[in-house]
Amino acid sequence: MLAILGGPPVRAARPWPRWPQYDNRTAAELLAALHSSRWSVTWYSPNGGKSRERMFGEAFARYNGADYGVSVDHGSSALVIALEALDVGPGDEVIVPAMTWVAPATAVLRVGAVPVLVDVDAATGCLTADHLGAAVSPRTRAVIVVHLACTAAELDRITAVTDAAGLALIEDCSQAHGTRWAGRAVGTFGQIGVFSLGAAKSLAAGEAGAAITGSPELYRRMLMLRADSRGYTDDGPAPGEYELVEDGTVMGANYCMSELTAALLLDQLPRLDDQHTIRETRAKELEAGLPGIPGLAPIPVPAPVDRRAVYEYGIRFEPGTFGDATVDQVAAALTAELGTRVYPPRAPLHRSALLRPHTKPRFARWWAGAVERAAGRPLPGADHYRDHTLLLHHSVLLGRRGDVDDILTALDKVRTHAADLPAHPAPDPKGMA
Ligand SMILES: Cc1ncc(COP(=O)(O)O)c(C=O)c1O
Repeated sequence: MLAILGGPPVRAARPWPRWPQYDNRTAAELLAALHSSRWSVTWYSPNGGKSRERMFGEAFARYNGADYGVSVDHGSSALVIALEALDVGPGDEVIVPAMTWVAPATAVLRVGAVPVLVDVDAATGCLTADHLGAAVSPRTRAVIVVHLACTAAELDRITAVTDAAGLALIEDCSQAHGTRWAGRAVGTFGQIGVFSLGAAKSLAAGEAGAAITGSPELYRRMLMLRADSRGYTDDGPAPGEYELVEDGTVMGANYCMSELTAALLLDQLPRLDDQHTIRETRAKELEAGLPGIPGLAPIPVPAPVDRRAVYEYGIRFEPGTFGDATVDQVAAALTAELGTRVYPPRAPLHRSALLRPHTKPRFARWWAGAVERAAGRPLPGADHYRDHTLLLHHSVLLGRRGDVDDILTALDKVRTHAADLPAHPAPDPKGMA
């Protein structure tokens, strides 16, 4: 009997790997930041030297093979300063994939431009060059491409479109820290790569973000845009001095990362590659087992991706695999079997309860235009992806081989007993970001 109906679950007692992962070294890093009495880059430096947020920006740029990195308080802020650095503003359109967290669309609104939602590949949930090409208008200034869940968008074909049309490309790598395309980190193909480093992400610090770029000019602008128009002194401050200089050639706001957050990230970053290796091993085992269950398949990964970072591991199912059950019913049954959350993707942005620009006077007018342009344009790829994908948080892949066996067993059990599934009250709006 299915666990959701009171039967014995596939996995009852054994816990899943903890997330986030930390140890005494993490505590030591945090204490060092605490005792430094320097909790913010916007405060003077009692002992001199670079701030931790500056060191993390540099370390994260190096990790990605980029020239420059900027630390910020959120991935959403990274999106805003990226758009502002590229001079995107009122009158501009920015193409945003319909299948993503709400921030890429709200960031566009926050700089006064119009997000144009476009359809995605039904199997990967990512923007495609064909959908992008069809959506370009004379007003299009930039494109935000999102590397979603556990795969990457088709960068070669997308950059061909943006280059040919003279459009700026921002890569949102919030779900793909360390993914590489033909040996090069995602985030370095567009003008700017942006990252959320929120609590659930594979590089996590609670609330944090970063932007990387190869352009010294965009770097300088993003520094000012995120620190109330201030950049850094050349070599870090002398004891008792400020690290930020008031040279204000671009007006910014305060999106600075706290020093305590940067300490966490400096501890977490060196662990990331080992975690990628473990997750990939478990993912490969899952992928070896999935074809044994009729109707199930992994999310495809483009061939040039030679290192894939998993944020949410996605499993696709053919319509009818679980009878008439919805993805929400299936996810609830799997969650009961496994004792860890299995969930569908969030609703695509064209039917998201979170994208509500008309509730703010400053956005309502722009959005009205976008709705008119989008009216009647179906987004079947996004709808299909939402309704036929099951997601697992990446931490589930940080354990042992037996964990994969449990996942496969649960999938097969729910498929076999799909006719028994109880009706699920409503789609779960709380899928992970
Ligand atoms: C693709 C994507 N972009 C942007 C963000 C926003 O990041 P943050 O929550 O750090 O502002 C997220 C966060 O979930 C995300 O998944």
